[in-house]
Amino acid sequence: MAAYRSKVVERIELPSRERRERALQDAGYNVFNLASEDVYVDLLTDSGTGTMSDAQWAALVRGDEAYAGSASFEALESAVADVMGFSHVVPAHQGRGAENVLYGTLLDEGDVVPNNTHFDTTRAHVANQGAEPVDCPVPAAGDPNATDPFKGNFSIERAREVVAEVGVENVPVVIQTITNNSAAGQPVSVENSRRVADFAADIDATFVIDACRFAENAGFVRERESAFADATVAEIAREQLACADAVVMSGKKDGLANVGGFVATDDPTLYERCKERAILYEGFSTYGGMAGRDLAALAVGLREAVEDAYVGDRLAEVGLLGELLADAGVPIYEPTGGHAVYVDAAAALPHLPAGEFPGQALVCELYRQGGVRAVELGSFAFPKTDRPELVRLAVPRRTYGREHFEHVIETARTVLENRSAVSGLRIESEPEMAELRHFTAELEPVSG
Ligand code: F0G
Repeated sequence: MAAYRSKVVERIELPSRERRERALQDAGYNVFNLASEDVYVDLLTDSGTGTMSDAQWAALVRGDEAYAGSASFEALESAVADVMGFSHVVPAHQGRGAENVLYGTLLDEGDVVPNNTHFDTTRAHVANQGAEPVDCPVPAAGDPNATDPFKGNFSIERAREVVAEVGVENVPVVIQTITNNSAAGQPVSVENSRRVADFAADIDATFVIDACRFAENAGFVRERESAFADATVAEIAREQLACADAVVMSGKKDGLANVGGFVATDDPTLYERCKERAILYEGFSTYGGMAGRDLAALAVGLREAVEDAYVGDRLAEVGLLGELLADAGVPIYEPTGGHAVYVDAAAALPHLPAGEFPGQALVCELYRQGGVRAVELGSFAFPKTDRPELVRLAVPRRTYGREHFEHVIETARTVLENRSAVSGLRIESEPEMAELRHFTAELEPVSG
């Protein structure tokens, strides 16, 4: 059942093949360097790229731009209290700003931080404090064909090993990322969140939930965790987030906004400490780098994100893309995640050796063939880790429909039919910081 209809539209156009060829060359075979007008269906990210509702646009116009005590901040505080259950909010310009505020407050040199899987900005902020990020995914996360319902879960067994190795006094923070973006957007069960909360309490650590996609996660819990089959998405979200001592949030995901983020907690001491650091890096504690209108749109978006109709529509749109791709014979990571479909590029282009970046070659070919922009999350993006060669097709919220997806499928099908002609790539230039390689490196085809 459709939950939305269009009220504002944006004209898009598929550029000619010649133009796409030239754009790809000029971009150094890195799709981050493409102009968006040269892209037809943009699946680079689901972050800040979604469509706001009429209610959000209305709130935007009424945004209160006061430097201090903005009414729009009060609206955000009240939405966070109602939707997420926390009484204190420290706003930030986006999720990584909130990460800097929270992890800068909680971590010291030499600390070790277990997380089901660190997203790249989380990893960088933990490392930036001189601490060591350690991933603790469940083993099924690494298997694209395993059918477990909660492949995003946090492995407490692995985390206990880490604590035994480094000493309990060196693990002041435990993070759980829901859904687990770096593990193909897989969900985390409420039971797992409760167990991680107990584990964190046991070792006297602060339990942080990275709640970027908490509403999508709650939608999966309702479908897959029998204790919650009759609960609403809003009830599940509250129940799961109640496990945490603090949440770190990007409003660009399940805040249904184009910008913004925050830290939220019930702990008055942590709140005061975060507020201080936020003033230094983000702005005064009633705007935190956001315009009043952005606070207002985020307050409305957060409430919409936990409506059953919204989450049902959201999981259905991403699920449809996954189903159509699988039906067309594209090797995808199963089951489909909450915000994106991940393609196994090593299986899609088996003739390319790992050193020739099969994921990035697939990304370039999808663009060349159909103006579709995806993102590589394999050995090109993560040079120092041993990851599967995944390509992510992220779905902006409330933005694309079946016709766009059919174009993506047709494009992928044609690429796979002609796979033997797809050349590998080699790096021509790259930035000093290896962690940031996929944003700015330039490449060249190995052959042709
Ligand atoms: N945590 C997770 C799990 C994320 O996926 C992201 C962003 C952030 C934190 C940082 O939030 O972008 O608002 O600063 N993920 C985007 C993506 C960029 O494409 O997956 P941000």
